[in-house]
Amino acid sequence: MLLKQIDDFIRDIQLASIEKSEDRAARIEQFRIKYLGKKGVINDLFEQFKSVPNDQKKEVGQALNRLKNAAQAKIEEFRQTIENSEQQSGTMDLTMPTDYSAVGSRHVLSVVMNEIIDIFSRIGFTVAESVEIEDDWHLFSALNFPHDHPARDMQDTFFVEKEEGRQEVALRTHTSSVQVRVMENNKPPIRIIAPGRVFRNEAISARAHCIFHQVEALYVDKKVSFADLKQTLLYFAKEMFGENTQIRLRPSYFPFTEPSAEMDISCNICGGKGCNICKGTGWLEILGCGMVDPNVLKACNIDPNEYSGFALGMGVERMAMLKYQIRDLRLYFENDLRFLRQFDGLV
Ligand code: DAH
Repeated sequence: MLLKQIDDFIRDIQLASIEKSEDRAARIEQFRIKYLGKKGVINDLFEQFKSVPNDQKKEVGQALNRLKNAAQAKIEEFRQTIENSEQQSGTMDLTMPTDYSAVGSRHVLSVVMNEIIDIFSRIGFTVAESVEIEDDWHLFSALNFPHDHPARDMQDTFFVEKEEGRQEVALRTHTSSVQVRVMENNKPPIRIIAPGRVFRNEAISARAHCIFHQVEALYVDKKVSFADLKQTLLYFAKEMFGENTQIRLRPSYFPFTEPSAEMDISCNICGGKGCNICKGTGWLEILGCGMVDPNVLKACNIDPNEYSGFALGMGVERMAMLKYQIRDLRLYFENDLRFLRQFDGLV
Protein backbone atom coordinates (compact mmCIF):
# COMPACT_ATOMS: atom_id res chain seq x y z
CA MET A 1 0.00 0.00 0.00
CA LEU A 2 2.67 2.48 1.09
CA LEU A 3 4.97 1.24 -1.68
CA LYS A 4 2.35 1.95 -4.32
CA GLN A 5 1.86 5.45 -2.94
CA ILE A 6 5.59 6.11 -3.04
CA ASP A 7 5.87 4.88 -6.62
CA ASP A 8 2.99 7.12 -7.67
CA PHE A 9 4.71 10.14 -6.13
CA ILE A 10 7.96 9.30 -7.87
CA ARG A 11 6.13 9.12 -11.20
CA ASP A 12 4.43 12.48 -10.52
CA ILE A 13 7.75 14.06 -9.73
CA GLN A 14 9.39 12.71 -12.84
CA LEU A 15 6.58 14.04 -15.01
CA ALA A 16 6.50 17.45 -13.36
CA SER A 17 7.61 20.34 -15.55
CA ILE A 18 7.88 24.06 -15.15
CA GLU A 19 6.27 26.41 -17.61
CA LYS A 20 7.65 29.69 -18.76
CA SER A 21 6.03 32.23 -16.52
CA GLU A 22 6.88 35.14 -14.32
CA ASP A 23 6.76 33.30 -11.03
CA ARG A 24 8.81 30.25 -11.76
CA ALA A 25 10.95 30.71 -8.69
CA ALA A 26 7.84 30.72 -6.50
CA ARG A 27 6.57 27.58 -8.24
CA ILE A 28 9.79 25.78 -7.50
CA GLU A 29 9.48 26.79 -3.87
CA GLN A 30 5.92 25.43 -3.77
CA PHE A 31 7.14 22.19 -5.27
CA ARG A 32 9.89 21.97 -2.66
CA ILE A 33 7.48 22.61 0.23
CA LYS A 34 5.05 20.05 -1.14
CA TYR A 35 7.60 17.25 -1.16
CA LEU A 36 10.49 18.25 1.08
CA GLY A 37 8.90 20.75 3.47
CA LYS A 38 8.43 20.04 7.18
CA LYS A 39 4.86 18.99 6.68
CA GLY A 40 5.50 17.75 3.17
CA VAL A 41 4.80 14.41 1.52
CA ILE A 42 8.13 12.86 2.31
CA ASN A 43 8.16 13.65 6.02
CA ASP A 44 4.63 12.34 6.21
CA LEU A 45 5.65 9.10 4.58
CA PHE A 46 8.61 8.75 6.94
CA GLU A 47 6.12 9.13 9.78
CA GLN A 48 4.06 6.26 8.37
CA PHE A 49 7.22 4.27 7.82
CA LYS A 50 7.51 3.80 11.59
CA SER A 51 4.55 1.45 11.57
CA VAL A 52 5.69 -0.64 8.60
CA PRO A 53 6.25 -4.27 9.64
CA ASN A 54 9.92 -5.12 10.14
CA ASP A 55 10.14 -7.53 7.23
CA GLN A 56 9.06 -4.77 4.79
CA LYS A 57 11.15 -1.99 6.28
CA LYS A 58 14.11 -2.52 3.97
CA GLU A 59 12.10 -2.36 0.75
CA VAL A 60 9.97 0.60 1.81
CA GLY A 61 13.00 2.45 3.20
CA GLN A 62 14.80 2.14 -0.13
CA ALA A 63 11.73 3.37 -2.01
CA LEU A 64 11.51 6.39 0.30
CA ASN A 65 15.11 7.26 -0.39
CA ARG A 66 14.48 7.04 -4.12
CA LEU A 67 11.56 9.43 -3.69
CA LYS A 68 13.62 11.92 -1.75
CA ASN A 69 16.41 11.81 -4.34
CA ALA A 70 13.93 12.22 -7.18
CA ALA A 71 12.43 15.34 -5.56
CA GLN A 72 15.85 16.89 -4.96
CA ALA A 73 16.99 16.10 -8.50
CA LYS A 74 13.85 17.66 -9.96
CA ILE A 75 14.35 20.89 -8.01
CA GLU A 76 17.92 21.09 -9.26
CA GLU A 77 16.69 20.49 -12.81
CA PHE A 78 14.11 23.31 -12.50
CA ARG A 79 16.77 25.72 -11.24
CA GLN A 80 19.04 24.80 -14.11
CA THR A 81 16.23 25.38 -16.60
CA ILE A 82 15.62 28.87 -15.28
CA GLU A 83 19.28 29.73 -15.30
CA ASN A 84 19.75 28.57 -18.88
CA SER A 85 16.72 30.36 -20.22
CA GLU A 86 17.74 33.57 -18.46
CA GLN A 87 21.07 33.48 -20.20
CA GLN A 88 19.41 32.90 -23.56
CA SER A 89 16.61 35.40 -23.21
CA GLY A 90 18.96 38.21 -22.34
CA THR A 91 17.59 38.97 -18.90
CA MET A 92 21.24 39.17 -17.91
CA ASP A 93 22.74 42.64 -18.04
CA LEU A 94 25.35 42.37 -20.76
CA THR A 95 26.74 45.79 -19.95
CA MET A 96 27.88 44.63 -16.52
CA PRO A 97 31.68 44.52 -16.14
CA THR A 98 33.03 40.98 -16.26
CA ASP A 99 35.24 39.37 -13.67
CA TYR A 100 38.83 40.53 -13.92
CA SER A 101 40.91 37.92 -15.68
CA ALA A 102 44.62 38.40 -16.05
CA VAL A 103 45.94 38.01 -19.60
CA GLY A 104 49.50 36.81 -19.91
CA SER A 105 52.07 38.52 -22.08
CA ARG A 106 55.25 37.45 -23.77
CA HIS A 107 58.59 37.54 -22.01
CA VAL A 108 60.83 40.27 -23.36
CA LEU A 109 63.35 37.66 -24.56
CA SER A 110 60.66 35.98 -26.67
CA VAL A 111 59.63 39.36 -28.04
CA VAL A 112 63.18 40.15 -29.13
CA MET A 113 63.82 36.63 -30.41
CA ASN A 114 60.65 36.79 -32.51
CA GLU A 115 61.68 40.14 -33.88
CA ILE A 116 65.07 38.82 -34.97
CA ILE A 117 63.42 35.78 -36.58
CA ASP A 118 60.94 38.03 -38.33
CA ILE A 119 63.64 40.31 -39.75
CA PHE A 120 65.61 37.39 -41.17
CA SER A 121 62.56 35.54 -42.46
CA ARG A 122 61.72 38.58 -44.60
CA ILE A 123 64.89 37.91 -46.60
CA GLY A 124 64.34 34.18 -46.97
CA PHE A 125 65.83 32.60 -43.84
CA THR A 126 63.88 29.74 -42.26
CA VAL A 127 64.07 28.64 -38.64
CA ALA A 128 66.14 25.58 -37.77
CA GLU A 129 66.13 24.07 -34.29
CA SER A 130 68.16 21.33 -32.74
CA VAL A 131 69.16 19.59 -29.53
CA GLU A 132 70.39 21.37 -26.38
CA ILE A 133 72.45 18.39 -25.25
CA GLU A 134 75.14 18.08 -27.88
CA ASP A 135 78.18 15.95 -28.65
CA ASP A 136 81.74 17.12 -29.08
CA TRP A 137 81.61 16.76 -32.87
CA HIS A 138 78.74 19.18 -33.44
CA LEU A 139 79.76 21.56 -30.68
CA PHE A 140 83.50 21.84 -31.36
CA SER A 141 85.29 19.41 -33.69
CA ALA A 142 83.25 19.97 -36.85
CA LEU A 143 83.46 23.71 -36.15
CA ASN A 144 87.24 23.57 -36.46
CA PHE A 145 88.05 24.03 -32.76
CA PRO A 146 91.58 22.71 -32.10
CA HIS A 147 91.68 19.87 -29.58
CA ASP A 148 93.24 22.00 -26.89
CA HIS A 149 90.96 25.02 -27.36
CA PRO A 150 90.06 26.64 -24.03
CA ALA A 151 86.32 26.66 -24.86
CA ARG A 152 86.35 22.90 -24.31
CA ASP A 153 87.62 23.49 -20.81
CA MET A 154 85.52 22.63 -17.79
CA GLN A 155 85.26 26.32 -16.94
CA ASP A 156 83.07 27.09 -19.89
CA THR A 157 81.23 23.90 -20.61
CA PHE A 158 78.75 21.90 -18.59
CA PHE A 159 79.65 18.32 -19.44
CA VAL A 160 76.96 15.69 -19.23
CA GLU A 161 79.25 12.76 -19.92
CA LYS A 162 83.00 12.81 -19.89
CA GLU A 163 84.42 9.35 -19.95
CA GLU A 164 87.72 8.06 -21.21
CA GLY A 165 87.42 6.84 -24.81
CA ARG A 166 83.87 8.10 -25.31
CA GLN A 167 82.65 11.07 -27.26
CA GLU A 168 82.05 13.93 -24.84
CA VAL A 169 78.49 15.13 -24.37
CA ALA A 170 77.67 18.61 -23.04
CA LEU A 171 74.97 21.27 -22.79
CA ARG A 172 75.51 23.33 -25.91
CA THR A 173 77.66 26.40 -25.34
CA HIS A 174 76.52 28.10 -28.55
CA THR A 175 73.93 27.67 -31.30
CA SER A 176 76.69 27.30 -33.91
CA SER A 177 76.22 23.54 -33.44
CA VAL A 178 72.96 23.87 -35.37
CA GLN A 179 74.99 25.00 -38.42
CA VAL A 180 76.72 21.65 -38.47
CA ARG A 181 73.50 19.67 -38.03
CA VAL A 182 71.82 21.57 -40.86
CA MET A 183 74.78 21.31 -43.26
CA GLU A 184 75.16 17.58 -42.57
CA ASN A 185 71.55 16.96 -43.52
CA ASN A 186 70.91 19.44 -46.34
CA LYS A 187 72.45 20.36 -49.66
CA PRO A 188 73.05 24.06 -50.43
CA PRO A 189 71.50 26.53 -50.96
CA ILE A 190 71.06 26.74 -47.19
CA ARG A 191 69.62 29.81 -45.52
CA ILE A 192 68.70 29.20 -41.88
CA ILE A 193 68.35 31.01 -38.62
CA ALA A 194 68.76 29.04 -35.39
CA PRO A 195 67.39 30.55 -32.17
CA GLY A 196 67.82 28.78 -28.88
CA ARG A 197 69.10 28.39 -25.34
CA VAL A 198 72.76 27.96 -24.59
CA PHE A 199 74.60 27.10 -21.38
CA ARG A 200 77.96 28.11 -19.94
CA ASN A 201 79.62 27.40 -16.67
CA GLU A 202 79.78 31.01 -15.47
CA ALA A 203 79.11 32.64 -12.13
CA ILE A 204 75.84 34.58 -12.25
CA SER A 205 76.19 38.37 -12.15
CA ALA A 206 74.72 41.48 -13.77
CA ARG A 207 76.83 40.82 -16.86
CA ALA A 208 77.02 37.01 -17.06
CA HIS A 209 74.63 34.10 -16.68
CA CYS A 210 74.90 30.36 -17.02
CA ILE A 211 71.83 30.20 -19.28
CA PHE A 212 71.23 32.61 -22.11
CA HIS A 213 69.90 32.73 -25.67
CA GLN A 214 71.53 33.07 -29.04
CA VAL A 215 70.43 33.38 -32.62
CA GLU A 216 72.69 31.96 -35.29
CA ALA A 217 72.32 32.61 -39.01
CA LEU A 218 73.91 30.62 -41.84
CA TYR A 219 73.88 31.13 -45.58
CA VAL A 220 75.66 28.70 -47.89
CA ASP A 221 75.44 28.75 -51.67
CA LYS A 222 77.59 29.22 -54.76
CA LYS A 223 79.50 32.54 -54.76
CA VAL A 224 78.39 33.85 -51.36
CA SER A 225 80.77 36.70 -50.55
CA PHE A 226 81.73 38.98 -47.70
CA ALA A 227 79.75 41.72 -49.43
CA ASP A 228 76.59 39.58 -49.00
CA LEU A 229 77.38 39.28 -45.30
CA LYS A 230 77.93 43.00 -44.92
CA GLN A 231 74.71 43.90 -46.70
CA THR A 232 72.74 41.42 -44.60
CA LEU A 233 74.23 42.89 -41.43
CA LEU A 234 73.38 46.44 -42.42
CA TYR A 235 69.81 45.43 -43.27
CA PHE A 236 69.47 43.65 -39.93
CA ALA A 237 70.91 46.54 -37.89
CA LYS A 238 68.57 49.07 -39.50
CA GLU A 239 65.50 46.88 -39.07
CA MET A 240 66.34 46.10 -35.47
CA PHE A 241 67.64 49.44 -34.19
CA GLY A 242 66.24 52.00 -36.62
CA GLU A 243 66.87 53.43 -40.08
CA ASN A 244 69.71 55.74 -38.95
CA THR A 245 71.80 52.94 -37.45
CA GLN A 246 75.32 52.61 -38.78
CA ILE A 247 77.53 49.54 -38.57
CA ARG A 248 81.24 48.91 -38.42
CA LEU A 249 83.16 45.65 -38.68
CA ARG A 250 86.28 44.90 -36.66
CA PRO A 251 88.58 41.97 -37.52
CA SER A 252 88.23 39.15 -35.01
CA TYR A 253 88.81 35.44 -34.59
CA PHE A 254 86.47 32.46 -34.42
CA PRO A 255 87.65 28.93 -35.24
CA PHE A 256 84.71 28.32 -37.59
CA THR A 257 84.95 31.47 -39.75
CA GLU A 258 87.74 32.90 -41.91
CA PRO A 259 87.91 35.85 -42.11
CA SER A 260 86.02 36.66 -38.89
CA ALA A 261 84.64 39.94 -37.67
CA GLU A 262 82.73 41.53 -34.86
CA MET A 263 80.02 44.00 -35.69
CA ASP A 264 79.32 47.20 -33.78
CA ILE A 265 76.34 49.46 -34.27
CA SER A 266 76.28 53.18 -33.68
CA CYS A 267 75.01 53.72 -30.13
CA ASN A 268 71.23 54.08 -30.36
CA ILE A 269 71.07 55.69 -26.93
CA CYS A 270 73.33 58.72 -27.44
CA GLY A 271 73.18 58.65 -31.24
CA GLY A 272 76.96 58.12 -31.45
CA LYS A 273 78.00 61.08 -29.29
CA GLY A 274 79.25 58.89 -26.44
CA CYS A 275 77.41 57.88 -23.26
CA ASN A 276 77.86 55.50 -20.36
CA ILE A 277 76.15 52.61 -22.23
CA CYS A 278 78.67 52.77 -25.11
CA LYS A 279 81.38 53.79 -22.63
CA GLY A 280 81.98 57.02 -24.48
CA THR A 281 82.91 55.33 -27.77
CA GLY A 282 79.65 55.89 -29.65
CA TRP A 283 79.66 52.20 -30.69
CA LEU A 284 78.05 49.05 -29.27
CA GLU A 285 79.35 45.57 -29.98
CA ILE A 286 76.49 43.33 -31.00
CA LEU A 287 77.51 40.18 -32.84
CA GLY A 288 80.19 37.89 -34.25
CA CYS A 289 80.31 36.82 -37.89
CA GLY A 290 82.46 35.71 -40.77
CA MET A 291 82.84 33.53 -43.84
CA VAL A 292 82.33 29.85 -43.04
CA ASP A 293 85.78 28.25 -42.75
CA PRO A 294 86.43 25.75 -45.59
CA ASN A 295 87.31 23.14 -42.93
CA VAL A 296 83.78 23.43 -41.53
CA LEU A 297 82.21 22.94 -44.96
CA LYS A 298 84.45 19.90 -45.52
CA ALA A 299 83.51 18.41 -42.16
CA CYS A 300 79.87 18.61 -43.25
CA ASN A 301 80.52 17.06 -46.67
CA ILE A 302 80.09 20.30 -48.60
CA ASP A 303 82.75 21.00 -51.24
CA PRO A 304 84.47 24.34 -50.38
CA ASN A 305 85.62 24.67 -54.01
CA GLU A 306 82.03 24.82 -55.14
CA TYR A 307 80.32 26.53 -52.22
CA SER A 308 80.98 29.33 -49.77
CA GLY A 309 78.93 30.82 -46.97
CA PHE A 310 78.65 33.29 -44.17
CA ALA A 311 77.58 32.81 -40.56
CA LEU A 312 76.75 35.10 -37.70
CA GLY A 313 75.76 34.69 -34.09
CA MET A 314 74.30 37.05 -31.55
CA GLY A 315 73.12 37.05 -27.94
CA VAL A 316 69.42 37.72 -27.46
CA GLU A 317 69.83 39.07 -23.90
CA ARG A 318 72.30 41.62 -25.19
CA MET A 319 69.97 42.68 -28.01
CA ALA A 320 67.16 43.17 -25.50
CA MET A 321 69.47 45.07 -23.14
CA LEU A 322 70.41 47.50 -25.89
CA LYS A 323 66.91 47.86 -27.23
CA TYR A 324 65.19 48.38 -23.88
CA GLN A 325 68.13 49.59 -21.77
CA ILE A 326 68.05 46.71 -19.34
CA ARG A 327 71.06 46.93 -17.05
CA ASP A 328 71.14 43.57 -15.30
CA LEU A 329 71.03 40.12 -16.94
CA ARG A 330 69.55 38.52 -13.84
CA LEU A 331 66.27 40.39 -14.33
CA TYR A 332 65.42 38.14 -17.26
CA PHE A 333 65.23 35.03 -15.12
CA GLU A 334 63.89 36.27 -11.79
CA ASN A 335 60.21 36.47 -12.80
CA ASP A 336 59.72 39.77 -11.01
CA LEU A 337 56.34 41.01 -12.24
CA ARG A 338 57.36 44.65 -11.88
CA PHE A 339 60.00 43.99 -14.54
CA LEU A 340 57.90 41.72 -16.77
CA ARG A 341 54.87 44.05 -16.81
CA GLN A 342 56.91 46.77 -18.48
CA PHE A 343 56.79 44.71 -21.67
CA ASP A 344 53.04 44.01 -21.60
CA GLY A 345 51.43 44.10 -24.98
CA LEU A 346 54.58 43.47 -27.04
CA VAL A 347 54.43 40.49 -29.34
N1 DAH B 1 79.32 31.01 -31.57
C1 DAH B 1 79.86 32.31 -31.22
C2 DAH B 1 79.72 32.51 -29.71
O1 DAH B 1 79.02 31.80 -29.08
C3 DAH B 1 79.10 33.41 -31.92
C4 DAH B 1 79.40 33.41 -33.38
C5 DAH B 1 80.47 34.14 -33.86
C6 DAH B 1 78.63 32.69 -34.27
C7 DAH B 1 80.78 34.16 -35.20
C8 DAH B 1 78.91 32.72 -35.64
C9 DAH B 1 80.00 33.47 -36.08
O2 DAH B 1 78.19 32.05 -36.54
O3 DAH B 1 80.28 33.48 -37.41
O4 DAH B 1 80.35 33.39 -29.18
